[in-house]
Parts: sequence; structure tokens; C-alpha cells
Amino acid sequence: MTASRSILIIGASRGLGLGLASEFATQGWAVTATVRNAAQQAPLQALPGVHVQQLEMTDPASLEQLAERLGGQRFDVIFVNAGVAGPTHHSAAQATAEEMGQLFLTNAVAPLRVAERLLPNLVAEHGLIVFMSSILGSIEAGAGLGMPLYGASKAALNHLAQCFVRTQDNPKLGVLLMHPGWVRTDMGGGDAPLDIASSCKGMAQQVSAAVGQSGLRYLDHEGTPLPW
Ligand SMILES: NC(=O)c1ccc[n+]([C@@H]2O[C@H](COP(=O)([O-])OP(=O)(O)OC[C@H]3O[C@@H](n4cnc5c(N)ncnc54)[C@H](OP(=O)(O)O)[C@@H]3O)[C@@H](O)[C@H]2O)c1
Repeated sequence: MTASRSILIIGASRGLGLGLASEFATQGWAVTATVRNAAQQAPLQALPGVHVQQLEMTDPASLEQLAERLGGQRFDVIFVNAGVAGPTHHSAAQATAEEMGQLFLTNAVAPLRVAERLLPNLVAEHGLIVFMSSILGSIEAGAGLGMPLYGASKAALNHLAQCFVRTQDNPKLGVLLMHPGWVRTDMGGGDAPLDIASSCKGMAQQVSAAVGQSGLRYLDHEGTPLPW
């Protein structure tokens, strides 16, 4: 069944996005994946059959251009993976307006804009939108785990995803908020217990299981439901 499935992955130049592109391509999915600039295409182009597109997620003009290039193309899954860690001081007291604008625009607002703009490119009958969240975005479980500003941006993403689902009139739409585990990437750092391949294998399993399931879920890469 998976051989005929297709996925659009937003933010796949490195880290988990690149890992997801590799995992889904290996499983026989038709993969389209985005990078911010053409100079970052090489690792994706090395994956057989992966189509590369360009998107700076925080730029509405770039999103419009991507939507135009995609035209009538339909995907079973749109996975909005791109995100940033925010300022290394992790301090509300020190945060500048520019730092907070960039963090919340990238992690919360832009993913929703992408989903809204590209919704016509999702298969209406069983399509799934996945937003890369984090356990740090859980009000109940994430507080105290560190990175409070980043966690707040992912809590905002979770909230906006809930609002998004409630405004959709397609009862078959599925939305998944995904926690990948703590993973050794540029963002996760070298002390993280999980490697990219293991996390992405787990996430691909959850995504495959969620295709065709309507409604909103907040799960980790092993399929464990997370508290809001
Ligand atoms: N690693 C973890 O332990 C962990 C845990 C929980 C959640 N997450 C989430 O998982 C996602 C991927 O994280 P990662 O660890 O793979 O991070 P990463 O290695 O820093 O990669 C981030 C990816 O997002 C892209 N990106 C950032 N801002 C973008 C923008 N404005 N437009 C388009 N692409 C943009 C980056 O592109 P460039 O190469 O152009 O910068 C890169 O491809 C993020 O949403 C992160 O918050 C990660």
C-alpha cells in the first residue's frame, strides 16, 4: 500500500527533515522535500527519487511561489518539520523582540500558514498534516524540562493546530502533532539519546498508521499520546 503514497516534507536540508526524507524514500513513498536555498540540495538529491523544492517558511512570497510550482499536485501527507531552537540564553528577561518574533514566527505561525496555503495539495479523502512539535510544548509534561521560550513556541504551535482543526469543514482531515524524541541533530546536540534514523523510523511508523484517521493527535515517535 505504501508504495503509492506521497509526502511533502518542509525543512529537509539536514537533521530530522533529511532523515524523514531518507526513511520515507526507502519505504517507497514518493518524496518531495524543501530546502531554504539551492545550495543545500545535495544530500536530498543523493536520495533516489526525491524531488527537491525551495521554501523559506517565514516568507509569504516564498510560500506563494511554492504553491504555484506545486500546482495541482496532491500529497497523502504534508509534514511541516522546520523549526528553530531560539536564543541560546533561553531567558525571557534577556529576549529581544527580534529573537521572539523569529522564534514564534518560525515555530508556530509559519507552520500554520504552510498548512492553510497548501491544504488544497492534500488528498481530501485521507490526507494527513503533521506538525513537528515537541514534548517541550506540552503545558503539563514540558514545563521544567528546559528551553522555556522554545517550549512556549511549540505550545503555541499546538494551540494553533487545535484552532486550525476546528475551522476545517473536511471531517476526514487528520492532523498529527509529533514529538520525535530527544535526537542527536544540530538542534538536539550530542548528548541526546536517540539517533536520527531511529527517531525517523518511529515517526514514519506513526505517520503511516495515522493516514486515513481523522481528527487531531499529539504523539511521540513511539506512538505514545502526550498530554496537552
Ligand atoms: N532534535 C530534537 O531533539 C528535537 C526534539 C523535539 C522537536 N524537534 C523539532 O524537530 C524539527 C527538526 O529539528 P532538528 O533537530 O532536525 O533541527 P535542525 O537540525 O536544526 O534542522 C532544522 C531544519 O529546519 C529548517 N528550517 C529552519 N527554519 C526554517 C525556515 N524558516 N524555513 C525553512 N526551513 C527552515 C532548517 O533549514 P536550514 O538548514 O536552512 O537552517 C533545517 O532543515 C524542529 O521543528 C524541532 O523543533 C527536535
